[in-house]
Amino acid sequence: MTTHSQSGPIVVLTGAGISAESGLATFRGAGGLWEGHRFEDVATPQAFARDPALVQRFYNLRRAQLREPGVQPNAAHLALARLERHRPGEVLVVTQNVDDLHERAGSRNLIHLHGELMRALCLACRASSSWAEELGAGCVCPACGVAGWLRPDIVWFGEMPYRMDEVERALARCALFISIGTSGQVYPAAGFAAVVRAAGDARTIELNVERSAVGAAFAEHFPGPAGETVPHLVEMLLAEPGRLDRR
Ligand code: OAD
Repeated sequence: MTTHSQSGPIVVLTGAGISAESGLATFRGAGGLWEGHRFEDVATPQAFARDPALVQRFYNLRRAQLREPGVQPNAAHLALARLERHRPGEVLVVTQNVDDLHERAGSRNLIHLHGELMRALCLACRASSSWAEELGAGCVCPACGVAGWLRPDIVWFGEMPYRMDEVERALARCALFISIGTSGQVYPAAGFAAVVRAAGDARTIELNVERSAVGAAFAEHFPGPAGETVPHLVEMLLAEPGRLDRR
């Protein structure tokens, strides 16, 4: 897990669309199903209480998919890491994604709002531990040694997103807010652009293949696939940082 808390004047929000070109399915693609499942059946605490084996199996498959050799950071993840390297201490990536493609690309100042596929949460001691293998009923918590209480460290519907205090502080002071590949249907992230605009005169840019549900909250739009638009935007920011992160 990344633990840096430094936030800078550029906040980048990412969603499933940034990982689509790496071969990971978005949530609200064709049919409104995620890998053939309804959210209610796999992404709520109630679903886990009702059928833990189904929920564990679902996330075990997602974890295995993430470890497939073909699933790698794409040009958009790499461009964001490059931006951070060139503007150290100034870039915070806030992702709704539970994959680890941002960190594999080299992003370090990173907040996983909705948790991480490669971590397990112990319901006995509340510790979060690195977990790359299958999770199941008999698994033992590496922190407290108790068996049978581990679940995916994913923020399910009805649960509180992680590190919102840090995110809110960063949104209030950012000069540039960039949203990439998110449909704007899940709060609090869907409200970030409105928060930024209410706080001051930060520049707001949305990058998406189509206008999101909260597209009107952004002053600028870069239409197209993230693998093309993000490297392009990063090149522009690095070429003329003084001009581009101010309106
Ligand atoms: P969605 O599946 O709702 O939206 C994906 C967005 O990515 C859509 O707006 C697409 O238009 C866009 N998109 C698709 N391909 C793209 C590409 N190549 N380049 C750029 N944009 C592209 O995913 P999220 O908005 O991330 O929460 O979903 C938000 C949350 O809903 C998720 O974090 C998850 C889900 O329920 C939890 O699991 C708690």
